[in-house]
Amino acid sequence: MNYHILTLFPDMVLNGLNTSIIGRAAEKGLLSIEAIDIRDYSKDKHHSVDDYPYGGGAGMVMQPMPICEAYDDLCRKTGKKPRVIYMTPQGTVFNQTIAGELAKEEDLVFLCGHYEGIDERALNLVATDFLSIGDYVLTGGELPAMVMIDCISRLIPGVLNNESSAEFESFHDNLLEYPQYTRPEEYRGLKVPEVLLSGHHKNIESWRREQSIKRTLERRPDLLKEAVLSKKEEEFLNK
Ligand code: ADE
Repeated sequence: MNYHILTLFPDMVLNGLNTSIIGRAAEKGLLSIEAIDIRDYSKDKHHSVDDYPYGGGAGMVMQPMPICEAYDDLCRKTGKKPRVIYMTPQGTVFNQTIAGELAKEEDLVFLCGHYEGIDERALNLVATDFLSIGDYVLTGGELPAMVMIDCISRLIPGVLNNESSAEFESFHDNLLEYPQYTRPEEYRGLKVPEVLLSGHHKNIESWRREQSIKRTLERRPDLLKEAVLSKKEEEFLNK
């Protein structure tokens, strides 16, 4: 996977992503992260990339030219025309299913806006997907891009140490993850559930499954509509 981030703040995304698991994955060559400074494509002597909105109103709008030229240059260099995801609170809300689909791409471009947004023509010309990370407004698209890149990257084979760990956790199957425990067996009077110490794999598995369903019911009942449950589990929920 090759990520190309079109941004006015390249350091922000590179510093944020070149650490920990994603940084190690980049070092191993499992993915690459390129930050393209939109300002480099400004032809203005002050390198400005924004201007006042036509029709008036508050704030500044990012001009179409530097964005489109940056994307054209990327297409020329790579010989590809990758998908361009525009980070916007007006987009479809990103989730695990979308992450799974995007993880299959070879290249992804993340277009990060600032100020009052981007000239609509740039979006018409280059954006293929409009994604939000939730119903709240941030100051720019960099944090949303980092959130999505983190989430997509851990689905790429080899990025997580344990291949199975992405598979059995929250949102796989639309269920939240079961509770986890490690040593000590007792802490401040709180004990690790007996079944986890039993070594009985089948019982552990069904306990975890039950905990997942209970937890989802308590915390995110909206997810259960899409969860794949056995007949017995459905009956338990409808009780
Ligand atoms: N830009 C500003 N707020 C955003 C959000 N919630 N999601 C994606 N991009 C954004």
